[in-house]
Amino acid sequence: MYDFYLHNKQLFDQLDTFIDSLENKDSSLIQVLHHAQGIFGYLPKEVQLYISKRLNIASAKVYSIVNFYSYFTTEPKGKYKISVCLGAVCFAKGADKILYEFEKQLGIKAGQTSKDLLFSLDGLRCVGACGLAPVVVVNSKVYGQFKPEQVNDVLDYYKSLENTTI
Ligand code: FES
Repeated sequence: MYDFYLHNKQLFDQLDTFIDSLENKDSSLIQVLHHAQGIFGYLPKEVQLYISKRLNIASAKVYSIVNFYSYFTTEPKGKYKISVCLGAVCFAKGADKILYEFEKQLGIKAGQTSKDLLFSLDGLRCVGACGLAPVVVVNSKVYGQFKPEQVNDVLDYYKSLENTTI
């Protein structure tokens, strides 16, 4: 716990600033968890314990909230979150082949994150853009009429963004 805290002290300072700004800390658990996930990218047990102490809430309660809401994650996610829609319309148009191609090229399965923390891969239910099926979403960008042959170009594009920002 202490090592994690030392390595991430700046992030904990940001979290403290946010918690200190709250008027009603007792009823702010979900708000604090959202903010903490925004800062850390995920909610490891060290962050959950820290929040439980700061808000004076039982750690079991914090743990149960984090596990109840699918929005919260206890595993680090990639900088680029790739979501392949697996809803009925997209599936009928070959979404499974797209997901397979991403899995193959990234060397990970759906639900996992690449070792360099650049990409996370997930399958989603209908994202409400069936007219564009099959659909892939990367962070908030929607790609319609997606083909497995585009997987390589999309991955290269996001990798190239890293090379230009270094
Ligand atoms: S099924 Fe994919 S957007 Fe609706």
